[in-house]
Amino acid sequence: MNLTVEKINKLKKERNAVVLAHCYQPVEVDLVADYVGDSLYLSQVAAKTNAEMIVFAGVYFMAQTAKILSPDKKVLLPQIEAGCRMADMIDYNQLIEFKAKYPNLPVVCYVNSTAEVKSESDLCVTSSNAVRVIKHLGSEKILFVPDTYLGKWVEKQIGNIEIITYPGFCPTHLQIRPEDIVKARKEHPEALVLAHPECHMSVSDIADYVGSTTGIMKFAKESDNKSFIIATEQGVVDRLKRDYPNKEFYPVKNNIVCPNMKMTSLDDILYVLENETNEINVDEKIAQKAVKCIDAMLEASK
Ligand code: 13P
Ligand code: SF4
Repeated sequence: MNLTVEKINKLKKERNAVVLAHCYQPVEVDLVADYVGDSLYLSQVAAKTNAEMIVFAGVYFMAQTAKILSPDKKVLLPQIEAGCRMADMIDYNQLIEFKAKYPNLPVVCYVNSTAEVKSESDLCVTSSNAVRVIKHLGSEKILFVPDTYLGKWVEKQIGNIEIITYPGFCPTHLQIRPEDIVKARKEHPEALVLAHPECHMSVSDIADYVGSTTGIMKFAKESDNKSFIIATEQGVVDRLKRDYPNKEFYPVKNNIVCPNMKMTSLDDILYVLENETNEINVDEKIAQKAVKCIDAMLEASK
């Protein structure tokens, strides 16, 4: 076995640590991951693990969410610079201004947001539960931050709701254009197009299936179809190819990569476990407010 993997596995036992990995991480991270999945799954794991330490192979807001849910645990982020460009598009003051423009409306935040933004939101969602959780809220009109495309996609799925969205977006998913889908379909006419709801509406509108990273992987696993065009980050394509060698997976185009997700290496994981560095902490008052909207989401998605 790879020496780094062996050292990480030994340290995990000694420190009573678990490694959580998002499925956009470099695929070799799975060699040491105890849990691999989408944002919802990983936050559910973070909320109930008995481990004393969580090493979050992902981006900043994910580690921060894990810390908010498990304040007594040590949460380490292997690459402290790994942020989310979408989450950084709205800060606390920008949210306050947005709320002031549309007073008295419930505020729903995508989990891809800072702890400060969560602390001023009523409800949190991930891409896999947004439709269900927002329906459950039962409001006719809501504010949604920061992802305008996820918000507009949810609005369309629910039908009888108005979702006023903040103009945030994921720069990685916005590289995918409807022309790319048309071109990929010409090259692979038998393939189904599976897209993430962070994509532009003009892409989601023409996909065969739209869902979270875990949703896409589940659809590909369970479908009788044998080939798929994947309209999300490369990590999902890499895992699908590894897990289902009898099916064909084509990235919708080359280089659909989230640079922040790809910062983490096995060496980084080993380093933080050895040295217990890059610990994520959240201001207690902010965390106490933020946890409410995350708990409301976890409750509604049970
Ligand atoms: P999911 O894990 O919910 O599919 O979200 C994708 C994403 O962009 C994570 O940053
Ligand atoms: Fe953020 Fe987009 Fe990267 Fe996800 S893929 S972490 S939304 S920048």
